[in-house]
Amino acid sequence: MSDFSMQIELWTECNNFCEFCYLGEANKFVPDEIKLHNIARASEIITDYFSTHDENIKAIGFLGGEFFQGQMKNPKVKKAFYNLCKQVFDLINANRVQDFWCYCTLTIGDQEDLYTLVELFNNTIIDKDKHHFWIQVSYDQKGRFTLPGKFENWNKHLLKLQQYSFTRFNITSIMTEPFLQAVLNNELNLTEFQNKYKTTFFLKQANCITDTLKQETAQKLPWFFPKRKTYLAFLQKLRLENPNLFDNLLNITLRSDYMYSQLDDTDLSEGLNIRNKETWEEYGSEVIQKCGHSVNYQCYADSDACMLCDYFKVKEEGF
Ligand SMILES: C[S@@+](CC[C@H](N)C(=O)[O-])C[C@H]1O[C@@H](n2cnc3c(N)ncnc32)[C@H](O)[C@@H]1O
Ligand code: SF4
Repeated sequence: MSDFSMQIELWTECNNFCEFCYLGEANKFVPDEIKLHNIARASEIITDYFSTHDENIKAIGFLGGEFFQGQMKNPKVKKAFYNLCKQVFDLINANRVQDFWCYCTLTIGDQEDLYTLVELFNNTIIDKDKHHFWIQVSYDQKGRFTLPGKFENWNKHLLKLQQYSFTRFNITSIMTEPFLQAVLNNELNLTEFQNKYKTTFFLKQANCITDTLKQETAQKLPWFFPKRKTYLAFLQKLRLENPNLFDNLLNITLRSDYMYSQLDDTDLSEGLNIRNKETWEEYGSEVIQKCGHSVNYQCYADSDACMLCDYFKVKEEGF
């Protein structure tokens, strides 16, 4: 089994409207024909991959936007989506793929379409001790749970999904200033959080809203990017209190090797982001800083320093 994994963004429509969402203007109603086209394209990408590669891979995952909060009202879209997932489940049964990943938001409604997918996995996968359904979900201190009831719904479903023995959980959180402050003043205890939701955590950097300059994102969301001093204090605390989480911080090896997006674009190469796990580089439409890391890591509110370089420095030198 190789360590290779791929993720495919099926569409950008989502009704959670997080204030910081990088999708920006792209988060809008996506017509059913485009959803159907993208599902068909994703199916082709998967078929092509396995017809040209012999090795078995770690995971295939889908992300939006969002799928399970009313985005599949059209029965044709719903059927095509489940067929696409079934294509992956069949590859899992054939031992070509280890696990299935799916991003879900869990903030609005009864999540019936997600439970249908979980049941499809339950009824299709033969060896459920060996193969897992990874629920990829996100938590943010500010900007995500903006209306009453959203956090409660998220909490309820995240706990309910644990009743299935084959589900596994990963929470992604953006290291915004309010998130880091909440950890520093002990309002948010990441170890307790991990235990409660039986989850791994992926802590990522704050990025600009697509097609928006950093200054514009900062102007719209003055609280979003962290101050460098806050981040350095956070690194020290995490290193002492939660070394595992510290080791995995920003860790590119936890991300998919291939990330496909913009499936309705005719030139698919524009939508393929390749993450090189040895060099930590991303090949897509990336701009690189002087230090060699992607400009995505230049994300402090008050400094042009690179967040990844600061992390490596603390990791290696301890300050
Ligand atoms: C676009 S979302 C799609 C999946 C799902 N709707 C969710 O929010 O988990 C994928 C991930 O990107 C993160 N994200 C969104 N906007 C971001 C930004 N401006 N900077 C960094 N991460 C961002 C989200 O928090 C989420 O973890
Ligand atoms: S839930 Fe995800 S896709 Fe939806 S607005 Fe928030 S970050 Fe964007």
